[in-house]
Amino acid sequence: MKSYKYLLVPAFFLTAVSNILAAGDEANETLYSVAKIMVVLTLLSILLVFWLVIVYSEKNDNKGDMFLAPFKKMFAMITKSTPIEKEHEILLDHDYDGIRELDNKIPPWFHGLLWGTIIFAFVYMVQYHIVGDGDIQTNEYLEEINKAAVEREILIRTGAFLNEETVTLTTDAGALNSGKEIYLKNCSACHGMVGEGLVGPNLTDEYWIHGGGVKNIFKVIKYGVPQKGMISWQTQLNPTQIKEVSSFIISIEGTNPANGKEPEGDKWVEETANTSSGS
Ligand code: HEC
Repeated sequence: MKSYKYLLVPAFFLTAVSNILAAGDEANETLYSVAKIMVVLTLLSILLVFWLVIVYSEKNDNKGDMFLAPFKKMFAMITKSTPIEKEHEILLDHDYDGIRELDNKIPPWFHGLLWGTIIFAFVYMVQYHIVGDGDIQTNEYLEEINKAAVEREILIRTGAFLNEETVTLTTDAGALNSGKEIYLKNCSACHGMVGEGLVGPNLTDEYWIHGGGVKNIFKVIKYGVPQKGMISWQTQLNPTQIKEVSSFIISIEGTNPANGKEPEGDKWVEETANTSSGS
């Protein structure tokens, strides 16, 4: 039987797809659902091939009547339409200027649709609104908000939102401690072990060349003053680290170390002193 060889194609395909189905993890969700649809289509085409095998093994179905018979039957079943030769049986009595009316049955597919949607609506209501199992819009929305909040939290931790505009002073002991470590490791060579100033200016006084306050200090550390010997640190320190070392520097203001370098720049007065900060 020639047609059997066509079975090889779907058989081969099914083995391939079964691998995807077996591996079906969440990362491949789309692939997984496509595979599922293809399995169904393959099964249908296998059925069709079997049907053709049966039909053509009879050999005498030249007009294809036998092949088409089940489709015709199915069509008749879902439409229940009256064959044209029987139309006189359902012709209504009235006649409007020669226009007459057939009393056609409502086709079963239409009834099916109507009842189907009613049943669906009922099941949907119970599942989504009474049992609360399904994801109604509000839940979906809240879920997305939660996801976004988590992503935002991650971004904040990596310091993606942290820059010279948004940075705030921290007085957290842990942060100041790691700020101190960063300082001793990277900055003390030029600014002194306790910020007293060497090549770089004294960082413990109230005088600043580039402005005091956490935002200005953050900015100087991030971008540096290359022409004056202060390098830019943004490739070596991440924003969180720059914030920590800036806060550490502010925390040592007024410590008045021995052999402190002479003040440079202007005396910095915190702007919040004369703007209402609410407290
Ligand atoms: C190679 C020497 C050198 C190193 C290392 C260095 N600095 Fe500087 N820094 C300087 C110099 C020089 C200046 C002065 C720049 C100027 O005159 O504009 C300066 C200026 C600054 C200022 C501004 C001071 C002001 O008065 O406005 C800050 C804040 C600062 N440095 C912080 C740091 C921090 C934090 C580190 C470590 C991460 C660091 N520096 C590492 C040399 C250095």
